[in-house]
Amino acid sequence: MKNKNKTVWSKRLKGKTSKSFQRIGSSINVDKRLYKQDIFASTVHTQMLVKQKIIPFNEGKKIINGLKKIKSQIDKGKFIFHEKYEDIHLNIEKKLFDIIGPSAGYMHTARSRNDQVVTDFKLWVKESSKDILNDITNLMKILIKKAEPNTDTVMPGFTHLKNAQPISFAHYLLAYYEMLNRDKKRFQNNLVLLDESPLGSAALSGTSYKIDRNFTSKKLGFRKPTNNSIDSVSDRDFAIDFLYAAAVCAMHLSRLAEDFIILNSDAFKLIYFNDSVLTGSSIMPQKKNPDPAELIRGRVGINYGKLSSILTIMKGLPMSYFKDLQDDKALVFEGYDTLKDTLTMSSELIDNLKISKDRMYKMANEGFTTATDFADYLVKEKKMTFRESYGISSQLVNFAEKKEKTLNEISLDDLKKLYRNLDKSVLKVFDVKNSMNAKNSYGGTSANNVKKMIKKYKKDTR
Ligand code: ARG
Repeated sequence: MKNKNKTVWSKRLKGKTSKSFQRIGSSINVDKRLYKQDIFASTVHTQMLVKQKIIPFNEGKKIINGLKKIKSQIDKGKFIFHEKYEDIHLNIEKKLFDIIGPSAGYMHTARSRNDQVVTDFKLWVKESSKDILNDITNLMKILIKKAEPNTDTVMPGFTHLKNAQPISFAHYLLAYYEMLNRDKKRFQNNLVLLDESPLGSAALSGTSYKIDRNFTSKKLGFRKPTNNSIDSVSDRDFAIDFLYAAAVCAMHLSRLAEDFIILNSDAFKLIYFNDSVLTGSSIMPQKKNPDPAELIRGRVGINYGKLSSILTIMKGLPMSYFKDLQDDKALVFEGYDTLKDTLTMSSELIDNLKISKDRMYKMANEGFTTATDFADYLVKEKKMTFRESYGISSQLVNFAEKKEKTLNEISLDDLKKLYRNLDKSVLKVFDVKNSMNAKNSYGGTSANNVKKMIKKYKKDTR
């Protein structure tokens, strides 16, 4: 066959492509990940061309059968990708010629690689967003599972990393449930925004063939065709939104990881992990290091990098398609891979998490964490303003600090020296569990509240 091993533009471009440009300019090693989407979109496009009588039925049939064979070859790892044919679209078209001969020439009627690539890419982002959504939901379920037996487990809550007020371990963990729930909405929102098919926009101006864009749009699972062919081939908002959602989600998990690293540190010793998620040291025999948490914390940097790169590539890009856009896919694929690993490691870490309830309880009593409760008691029982009671409670803290005591170790007699009109009913406010359970405002840390919230969360993640 005379066109064997020729590029599609070989009649126009006579000179041989430079070896280095061929390597640098080809995207096949990255965009081969789009092969399923590309074959699906080409199949639907061909069905439409047949239905619209733009190409003969028999030719369409040959094309679709050929595409099936190519898919199975790639599935089985038997397909050889060539840099020479640049990308997944031309590699597949070239192979189609090998398999069915000149009939393959009908396939690229009324389309361009410009609408082809963005259609494939949108399909990929759709599918991968759903996959990420599953992983996030799974992680949320693991959080619920860990939280449920710990609605009565008291630990110190921190602000400025200084002991602040007693909270439950469940309530702390479920803060991350809320973050992940917002992450899901960001991915879901992108699924709504990207739900328009660009196929049929061709190079940039549309096409003079009587194509049926509603047909292809519907068959590909999009809500409707895009409205403007120029925007269609140069829009990458869906990739940016995906990378933004991924970056925010990775940021949330880096906070979780950092929390875990701190709470697991020898200074805190509040949480532990099973050995399956730890590493040792090559020199210090005693070490048990929480490496996965450190990888999660660090890799958010990769997710930020991908987002920043794509925003920069898109900035100032005139209408419409330019080769700059080819590099969008590596960014999104790597952003996806990184977040996926981060989600997997987060799930495993939480699954393998153990806690020291005793240390948590002890630490919840340190740092005068019930000082606010005492001030609140004086407001409610002694009709003071908060600023007045805050002053008295501050004096109590100064006194306890000097005596090196926790607030629940101060005797009623000593309390009375600060404020005369007190009886033993005040002592309960210095109990950290009472303090926790007193926070029963909506969204607060009381066990009752958190139990109700867990019920709701369970229903929401079913
Ligand atoms: N490999 C290209 C990309 O990823 C496909 C589109 C090529 N279009 C073109 N006019 N060169 O963007």
